[in-house]
Amino acid sequence: MDHSILKTLTHVEGRAMTDVPANHVSLRMDNVQLVIAVKRGQRPSIVHWGRALAHSAPEEFEVLSTRQWAFGGPTEDVAPSLSNELGAGLGGPSGLLAHRDGGDWASFLRVEQVEMVTAQHVRIHCRDKNVGLGVTYDVALGPDHAALSITISVKNEGDAALFIAWAPVMAMPLDERLSRVWGVTGRWAHEFEVQEIGAHRGTYLRENKAGRTSHDNFPGLIALAPFTHETAGPCAGFHLGWSGNNRVRIDRHTDGRSFVQMGELFFPGEMKLDAGEVYRSPTLYAVWSDTGLNTLSQSFHRVLRQDILDGRSRAKPRLVHYNTWEAVYFDHGEDKSMALADRAAAVGAERFVLDDGWFGGRRSDRAGLGDWTVSSAVYPNGLHPLVDHVRSLGMEFGIWFEPEMVNPDSDLYRQHPDWVLNARGVEQVPFREQYTLDLTRPEVSAYLFDAIDAIVKDYRVDYIKWDMNRDSTHPGGMDQRPVIHRQTHAVYSLMDRLRRAHPELEIESCASGGARADFGILRYTDRVWTSDNNDALDRQRIQRGASYFFPPDVLGSHVGPKRCHITGRMFDMEFRAATAMLGHMGMELDLSEETDADLDVLRRAIALYKAHRALIHSGDLYRLEASDYLNMVGVVAKDQSAALFSCAKVEGHSTTLPGRIRFAGLAPDKHYLTRLIWPTHPPSVTAPSIVEAADLCGDGTVFRGEALVHFGIQLPLMHPNSCLLYHLESVEG
Ligand code: GLA
Repeated sequence: MDHSILKTLTHVEGRAMTDVPANHVSLRMDNVQLVIAVKRGQRPSIVHWGRALAHSAPEEFEVLSTRQWAFGGPTEDVAPSLSNELGAGLGGPSGLLAHRDGGDWASFLRVEQVEMVTAQHVRIHCRDKNVGLGVTYDVALGPDHAALSITISVKNEGDAALFIAWAPVMAMPLDERLSRVWGVTGRWAHEFEVQEIGAHRGTYLRENKAGRTSHDNFPGLIALAPFTHETAGPCAGFHLGWSGNNRVRIDRHTDGRSFVQMGELFFPGEMKLDAGEVYRSPTLYAVWSDTGLNTLSQSFHRVLRQDILDGRSRAKPRLVHYNTWEAVYFDHGEDKSMALADRAAAVGAERFVLDDGWFGGRRSDRAGLGDWTVSSAVYPNGLHPLVDHVRSLGMEFGIWFEPEMVNPDSDLYRQHPDWVLNARGVEQVPFREQYTLDLTRPEVSAYLFDAIDAIVKDYRVDYIKWDMNRDSTHPGGMDQRPVIHRQTHAVYSLMDRLRRAHPELEIESCASGGARADFGILRYTDRVWTSDNNDALDRQRIQRGASYFFPPDVLGSHVGPKRCHITGRMFDMEFRAATAMLGHMGMELDLSEETDADLDVLRRAIALYKAHRALIHSGDLYRLEASDYLNMVGVVAKDQSAALFSCAKVEGHSTTLPGRIRFAGLAPDKHYLTRLIWPTHPPSVTAPSIVEAADLCGDGTVFRGEALVHFGIQLPLMHPNSCLLYHLESVEG
C-alpha cells in the first residue's frame, strides 16, 4: 500500500469554501461525524456516518473500506452516490427517479461546487449536464445537537418538462452491524406501535398515501444492532419531517450494502417540473448513536426543541388543558360548557378547549364542517359569555377547527361543491361523512384564513386544536393532477399565516388522534394530540413508542374517564393521573362523574405536574430497560441535579416480588435525595417494605447516583395498573 496517500490527500472541516478545494467534507458534533466524498466531477458519496473519529483522516476511511471485484458482478466496484440515481449504476433498487417522457432517465450526478454555509452546514451542488438536471444537497449537523438535517432540491435545467417519480432526500448508507429494524406502525387509538423486523435481505417498504402523516405508516424508523438496547450499542434513527404522502424503505442489497431512503410519495405525474422549476424536499432528520436508543431519542428531542418548535410555546409553561370532547361530544350549550369550565378550574386547569360541535349545523359528525360561525342553536348569545367566564376563572380559551374538511351537508359545500379534492368519474370513499377541501385553490385558503382569523380575533383565542379526520384518497386538484405535495404546503402556509397574524396563538396538530404527528407540522404547531385513546394502560405503551421521536412537552396527554370510552377498561384516578403527567398534561372527562376523593387526587396530580413540568419539558428523556411487566420512563435535568422517573406496573409478575429497578442518566458521584412523590398513599400492598426502610413517602433517603444506576432500588409490591413517581434531587454529600 502507498502510505503517502494518507499524507497527500486533503479534507476540509468547518471552513467556508465556494469551490471544491478538497476531496471530503467532514461535519462533527458531540460524538457524531459525517464524512462525504466531494471530489469535483465525481459522484458525491457518504464515506462515514457514525462515531466521531477525531484522530483519523477521511482518506483512511476510504482506503479502509476498499471493496473489490467479486464473481458475478461488475468488474470494478460501483460506489454509492448520495441519490443512487439510475445513471450512477449501483445495483439494487434505485434512488432518485426522473425522466422526460421516458427519455433522460439515466441521470448521473457529479459534484460541481461545495459551499460551507456555516461550519456545520454544507451545501453540495451536483449536476448532470447530459440530462439537464441539477441537485443540491443541504446537510447540517447541529449546531447544538447531533442530528443531521438534510434536504435536497432538484432543478430541471433542460427545456422540456421533467417528471420526478421518486426523490428520496438522500440514500443513507447503513452500518452493516445494524441488522435489526424498528418500524413504527399503528392504527386509530393505537398509535406509535414499534414493530421489530429482524435481519433480512431485500426491502422493508412502507408507503403512505393517506394525504396526512397517517396512523399506520409513521415516517420514521430505527436501525439497531443485535446487541443494542436503551443505554448501549450502535443505532441510527430516521424521520421525515413531512405531513403528506411518503415512502420509507430500507434496501439491503445482495452486495452487503444497505440504504435507508425516505421521501415524498408522488402520485403519477404529481411532480412535474417545467424548465427552470425546482422541487424542494421535506427535511430528513437522521440521528446516530453509539450509546443506545436513549441517546438517539435525545438527539431527536433536541433538534425538535431547538430548531423546529417556535418560541411561543417555550415562552411559558405547558398549561394544563381541559378539553370538552369526551364530556359532551356534540351536546353543547352555554350553561353546560360554563359548568364544565367551573369544574375544570376547580381542579387546576389553565386552558379550556372547546372541542367539536360549537359551529354551524354541527350537531353530529354528519353535518356542518366548513361553516365556521358560532351556532346560534347551541350558543344563542355567541361565545362571549362562555369565553368571559373561562377567563374570569383564570383560564386561557382554546377552540377546535377542522379547516381542511367539509361535510356535504354544509352551507359551504352547497355553495362550492367544486372546492373538494376528487378524481373525475370516481366515487369519493366515504370517510366520516366528509371531503377534503382543495387548499391549493387560493380562494379556499383565503376563505379558511378569514373564517378562522375572525373567530380568533373576536374571542381572543389563545389556542386552536387543528383536526384532520379523513384520508385524502383521491387527491386530484383543479386540473385533476394529484396535489398532495402542494396541498401539504398549502396547509403549512395557512397555519403560518395565522401564526404571523396572531403571534401568541398556539396550535395543536390532531388528526383523529396522532395521524398528523411529525416534525414538518411541528414547525407550525406546538404539540400533537398523541391519541384519541385515553386508556391509561394503552397510553403507557403509546407514549413510550412516541418517545423514540417526540419529547414529552409536545405529547398531549389527558386524564380520561374512569371507564375508558374507547376500550371500556376501568382505571383508578391515581393511575390515570400519573400516566398523563409525563407529557403535556390535560383532562378530557366529565368531572361531575368523578367522586370527591378522585377529584382530590386529580387536583394533587395537577399541582404536582405544575411543580415539575419545567423539568419534564426540558430534561433528557430516558426509557429504562426492565421486565415486560414494567414501563419505566424518566426525565433527568441537563445538569443532572434532579430527575423524575415513572414506574408503571402494566401487568402481574411470575415471581413473588418484583425485582430491583435501575435508573439511568444520573451522575455517579452525586448524592440524590430519593423520594416517592406519587401515588398519594404508600403504594406497597404489604408492609414493612423499602417504602418504610428508605422513608420513600416521607423525608426520603440519600443514595449515590452510581448505586441508583448500577445497583438499583427494590420495587415495592404493588398492584398492576398502578404507577410510582420517583423524585431524585441532588444534595450536598
Ligand atoms: C377527532 C379528534 C378528537 C375530537 C373529534 C371531534 O376524532 O381526534 O379528539 O376532537 O375529532 O370530532
